[in-house]
Amino acid sequence: MARVALVLTICFMGFYPSLAWSSNSNHTDFLSCLSTKIPSQLVLTPSSRSFKPLLVSSIRNARLVAPATASPPLCIVTPTQASHVQAVVRCGRSHRVPVRVRSGGHDNEGLSYRSATPNGEAFAVIDLSKFNAVRVDAHAATAWVDSGTTLGELYYRVATAAPGLGFPAGVCPTVGVGGLISGGGMGLMMRKNGLSADNVLDATMVDAEGNLLPDKTAMGDDLFWAIRGGGGGNFGIVLSWKLRLVPVPPKVAFFNVTKTMDQGAVDAVTKWQTIAPALPEDLSVRVVIQKRQATFQSLYLGNCSAVVATMRSRFPELGLTRGDCKEMSWLQHKAYLYFGDTSKNMPLEALLLNRSMTIGPFVKNKSDYVKKALTRDAWEKIFLWPDGGAVGQLILEPHGGMMSRIADDYTPFPYRSGVLYNIQYVEFWNGKGGHGTPKWLSGLYDDFMAPLVSKSPRGAYVNYRDLDIGVNKVVGGVTSYETAKVWGERYFGLANFKRLAKIKRKVDATDYFRNEQSVPPLHLIRE
Ligand SMILES: Cc1cc2nc3c(=O)[nH]c(=O)nc-3n(C[C@H](O)[C@H](O)[C@H](O)COP(=O)(O)OP(=O)(O)OC[C@H]3O[C@@H](n4cnc5c(N)ncnc54)[C@H](O)[C@@H]3O)c2cc1C
Ligand SMILES: *[C@@H]1O[C@H](CO)[C@@H](O)[C@H](O)[C@H]1NC(C)=O
Ligand SMILES: *[C@@H]1O[C@H](CO)[C@@H](O)[C@H](O)[C@H]1NC(C)=O
Ligand SMILES: *[C@@H]1O[C@H](CO)[C@@H](O)[C@H](O)[C@H]1NC(C)=O
Ligand SMILES: *[C@@H]1O[C@H](CO)[C@@H](O)[C@H](O)[C@H]1NC(C)=O
Ligand SMILES: *[C@@H]1O[C@H](CO)[C@@H](O)[C@H](O)[C@H]1NC(C)=O
Repeated sequence: MARVALVLTICFMGFYPSLAWSSNSNHTDFLSCLSTKIPSQLVLTPSSRSFKPLLVSSIRNARLVAPATASPPLCIVTPTQASHVQAVVRCGRSHRVPVRVRSGGHDNEGLSYRSATPNGEAFAVIDLSKFNAVRVDAHAATAWVDSGTTLGELYYRVATAAPGLGFPAGVCPTVGVGGLISGGGMGLMMRKNGLSADNVLDATMVDAEGNLLPDKTAMGDDLFWAIRGGGGGNFGIVLSWKLRLVPVPPKVAFFNVTKTMDQGAVDAVTKWQTIAPALPEDLSVRVVIQKRQATFQSLYLGNCSAVVATMRSRFPELGLTRGDCKEMSWLQHKAYLYFGDTSKNMPLEALLLNRSMTIGPFVKNKSDYVKKALTRDAWEKIFLWPDGGAVGQLILEPHGGMMSRIADDYTPFPYRSGVLYNIQYVEFWNGKGGHGTPKWLSGLYDDFMAPLVSKSPRGAYVNYRDLDIGVNKVVGGVTSYETAKVWGERYFGLANFKRLAKIKRKVDATDYFRNEQSVPPLHLIRE
């Protein structure tokens, strides 16, 4: 019989990290601890000339550069072997220096390399960019991939070692495998194969005590569940993942069809909402809406004549013709979808293996899930929404297919059956002229969209991290569950979030791995 849940936050050993971690002498001790266990060229401090270039090396968002460089980490460690990662955690624990881990550095709020708390506690960064080996077993259709690998590297290594196999993951080639899989991993094959995290067979990680857990047996079922979608930076540092590779045909079909409002963009998007989640699973059609136009982009695991026939019967409003469709290899599709025509005369190696980044504009992203199609009238208002001098973009990713056959608690990612699509809102601005905070988004996301999207709580995707929906408070030395559930229940749903917090209690009771949106340990719960 269920009794009222009683949540007590325990004050561990009476230590108050905000005081303890401000001690400079402990920082010196921490660094000398590292120096006994890690080669000195792998540990950079702000006094090194290479420090700042390394810190900004994987930042894409101009909004995050100044905050990251203004209060930099104590050091950035670029481990080349597991023992280095273990050493950082062990030295960090004994000298009370928390650590943040960075794989591809694409966290939308930069939590892998910056503290978003003013005067927040000092921390160290483990940058896994040197951890990027991929070992493909074509015969078994599996691969071990290190967390610091980018998606471009993963796709390239898989497709060259095992033609005919691929992996379901995201669009941008510089996203890191570590963060992407930790938060789920959506992409154009999820309707057929599920999320990236659904295709993880095993993993290797370093836990909050600095122990190396070589496989899922060592982790136990709960921890292995939590790391497949429960969000990065919470439960330990995943060093590598064993992936199930999936079959892809020699050629796939791609189209990229743009409609203006005059050409029926509003009607087409209105229809798309229910058509796209119900298409054959080999076919995904996403939509990018910007500047009053809608662009429909596909991945079809088959040929152009078949996809044109399917689209003409299922979605005649799009008016797709054979001339709109291109056939290419699965790997070429990865480059083409992201780089477009500029990729034509460039080798795939240059496009997919290039980890260097241009820092783009200032960007703020938010997300929603849609379970009930919006009306045509609502879409017309969205298309015409004034952008306040910024540039707004909406990216709609269709669910359905395999996504709707997976239970909401199979992994921590709860947006499965009944979800039509995910919305990502992207607002760009140039940072000049006082436009320091999102303008377009505040009216659209906060007011207009709220009644139209998933509710109670309103959904959001952890990999499209958004600190506006809530940040943690540390009470008595550990993150408070009550403040964390405000954002946590939105990313994971009520039950999954509570399960994550109980697992956190088991594997990291003193809350060593923590940040502004880390899962809190749920202490003493009586049910
Ligand atoms: C341009 C762009 C395109 C994107 N496209 C997609 C997409 O198509 N589909 C999609 O699902 N998402 C997409 N995303 C979101 C992306 O999945 C997340 O930002 C993801 O967290 C990035 O992973 P990362 O390793 O690059 O980031 P990082 O900033 O390195 O890490 C993100 C979080 O995970 C933690 N973390 C990193 N590595 C590890 C590890 N090894 N073990 C434990 N925790 C770790 C970090 O501490 C941080 O909290 C996109 C983001 C960008 C910027
Ligand atoms: C520094 O770390 C030690 C453990 O190595 C701890 O006992 C001490 O309290 C810390 N100092 C401060 C000022 O917190
Ligand atoms: C927001 O999403 C867009 C499109 O996916 C991406 O280009 C951009 O880098 C993201 N913004 C942030 C802050 O990471
Ligand atoms: C296209 O694929 C279909 C099956 O999906 C097949 O029947 C047809 O022969 C293929 N057409 C060409 C031109 O390869
Ligand atoms: C798709 O079309 C849009 C708008 O016409 C264009 O900006 C984009 O580069 C195209 N993308 C690809 C991959 O062709
Ligand atoms: C890698 O990408 C960066 C940033 O986009 C670019 O400046 C550079 O020329 C690219 N390098 C290669 C070898 O293509």
